[in-house]
Amino acid sequence: MSKILVTGGAGFIGSHTVVELQTAGYDVVVLDNLSNSCEKSLERVEAITGKKVPFYKADILDREALENVFTKEDINAVIHFAGLKAVGESVAKPWEYYENNIAGTLTLVDVMRKHNCKNIIFSSSATVYGDPAFIPITEECPKGQCTNPYGWTKSMLEQILSDIQKADNEWNVILLRYFNPIGAHKSGTMGENPNGIPNNLMPYITQVAVGKRDHLGVFGNDYDTHDGTGVRDYIHVVDLAIGHVKAIKKLEENAGLKIYNLGTGHGYSVLDIVKNFEEANGVKIPYEIQARRPGDIATCYSDATLAKEELGWEAQYGIKEMCEDSWRWQKNNPNGYED
Ligand code: UD1
Repeated sequence: MSKILVTGGAGFIGSHTVVELQTAGYDVVVLDNLSNSCEKSLERVEAITGKKVPFYKADILDREALENVFTKEDINAVIHFAGLKAVGESVAKPWEYYENNIAGTLTLVDVMRKHNCKNIIFSSSATVYGDPAFIPITEECPKGQCTNPYGWTKSMLEQILSDIQKADNEWNVILLRYFNPIGAHKSGTMGENPNGIPNNLMPYITQVAVGKRDHLGVFGNDYDTHDGTGVRDYIHVVDLAIGHVKAIKKLEENAGLKIYNLGTGHGYSVLDIVKNFEEANGVKIPYEIQARRPGDIATCYSDATLAKEELGWEAQYGIKEMCEDSWRWQKNNPNGYED
């Protein structure tokens, strides 16, 4: 298996995954509509790996464009990142989320099977566990009620891809459930580049650190956690990217249907992250305690033993490196990929 199509390959996790795939010797083709990403990220990838990244600017809903890619390129497997992912926006625009994420994936999978490419790795999320039935969360933990349409698209697409694999065992489907990706490439040339006000914790912190925002709002300090703030399993984006390379190797063994958590197994609260960021980087992060954010849960962290046993994958980077690398990227690129 050599040539891999990465949908959403210009985005945060996608671009870091392209680096690791090229470094591991894979041929990569990227498809991205650039709705929430920037082609510059791919120039940065090329500067790191010294390899060209063939790029198609196209939408996963555009069947003709997909046909064109699969006709021109001999694709063996797809890593499917492309999708809308803002939780709050998904509540306001459910139709757009279901259309883009669900109909887009159905179109992609249909074109794949017509071209006899039946290997897919899907970007899922720990959000499918809802308020988890137990902690740490293993893959055996039942899926739960999502609190927003974004989460439901992940949960539904897991079901859809599983059903497709069950009906036709030529398919190999790996569902990767990400915990909370942060950090950035060590070079400081690639990282997370959110449009507008960041929804997620780490990009908000780095924007406070760089002076673009006044202070961090901490969403609730009355959760049942060690300091009252929400606990999550933050994972370095490079570790996450390497998890995809390992998953590609698993696909090559005709794995059938597999589901893996990609997390570190450690939980950190919001205030733990603030403290670690301050200590790692010598920058003060002023914060204010605010109301809980609707839909948030108290605690979410993984048991990632299965990925270790079956993929030979384990997160290497700790919280200090995650904080240092997030900051290096933001400090060197205060406006992200915009000059
Ligand atoms: C969120 C999504 C999840 C998605 C993930 C992608 C929700 C409910 N879930 O996860 O579906 O897969 O992003 O990365 O939005 N926090 C603050 N202040 C902020 C931002 C966040 O205190 O300005 C807190 C949150 O309350 C939470 C923690 O920081 O306790 C992490 O939040 P965030 O980075 O948004 O991730 P999740 O909510 O875990």
